[in-house]
Amino acid sequence: MADVLFQVTEEHLDKGLRGFPVGTCSTSEVRPNEGLFYRGMPVKDLASHSPEEVIYLLLHGKMGSGEEVAGFAKDLEARGVCKVGVRHIVRNMPKGANPMDLFAVAIQLAYQYEKGKDTRDDCLNLIAKIPELAALVINEHAGWGETPPSKPELGYMENFTYMLNVPNKDTESLNEVFRLFNVLHFDHGGGNLSTFVGKAVASSLENLYGSIAAAMNALAGPKHGMANQETLEFNKEVMEEVRGELTKEAVEKVLRDRLAANKLVFGFGHAVLRVEDTRATILYNVLEKSYTHEPYARLALLLREVGPKVLKENPKISNPYPNVDAVSGTLLRAAGFPYTDYYTVLFGLSRVVGISIQILHERERNVPIYRPKYIYKKRD
Ligand code: MLT
Repeated sequence: MADVLFQVTEEHLDKGLRGFPVGTCSTSEVRPNEGLFYRGMPVKDLASHSPEEVIYLLLHGKMGSGEEVAGFAKDLEARGVCKVGVRHIVRNMPKGANPMDLFAVAIQLAYQYEKGKDTRDDCLNLIAKIPELAALVINEHAGWGETPPSKPELGYMENFTYMLNVPNKDTESLNEVFRLFNVLHFDHGGGNLSTFVGKAVASSLENLYGSIAAAMNALAGPKHGMANQETLEFNKEVMEEVRGELTKEAVEKVLRDRLAANKLVFGFGHAVLRVEDTRATILYNVLEKSYTHEPYARLALLLREVGPKVLKENPKISNPYPNVDAVSGTLLRAAGFPYTDYYTVLFGLSRVVGISIQILHERERNVPIYRPKYIYKKRD
């Protein structure tokens, strides 16, 4: 008899499938007490690697040799320019729309111009072109002017920084922080909402672009990818409330007052993790090394210290530790990208990689159409 993995009782119903085993995932794993692993390697060991090296790892299951990664980077480079029709789509979208809506729609419609010969081709094409799509959407929405022609030969994220018309751009700092942000957000197991939604939609044999567009709509919500924007907004509120007093005591008082007033504290806890998110640890290290002159960096570091202490006092909180959103926005801001409206697009630009590869794997294994069961219940 097969092993019992999980027993479902009445209490599990209407809880968002929390913890239900659904399938298998070989790209990455989220271990509750150890954090994120890509293909069995802890992300801390991958944080200094290039996006091309890490995408190669996620796709092939092993680190490539110098020659293999160079060949793979060349392939991405050859695929890395969007067709002119895609530029027209983005240019003609409504200016005032939410950037994540624009991003999802741009991905969905790009299929008309970029359709490849099979899902693997679509997967590689979309991974190669997503930096340009994200840059087009952000520049267009921000009113930052015409996006320069994509130059994938610059490198995957270097090209993104180059295409983004950020005012007063500090290219070196942005290259480093965008690279790190990108690599750390590629994949997070199979059960995070955007990945699950992308795979569920793809299981109907919808094309990869449409499936990824659906995934991006899932990512857009404040309980998922948009949490990085919300957390920086929360930090801004805390900054006002401490009135310039960046001390442990002042931050602790603000947190206690907020909790007493039933207000939310953002950037802490996770559905799976039971320790500090290893992605957050890596980003905190960068803040500590390069950005402690920035008040928001100092605030994020104080929140990291004080938050778990205060949250632990509530026995209902199973994980009082910071997650990646507690620090990612602060680091982007410190590196010269304070434009919170686009933080979820940056998350999406990265997560497209993991979701596309997971969809490819499920399609190669002929995973059938997702069809869970809902139990009928009469309600007034
Ligand atoms: C993610 O990276 O997708 C988030 O941490 C959410 C999750 O894993 O459920």
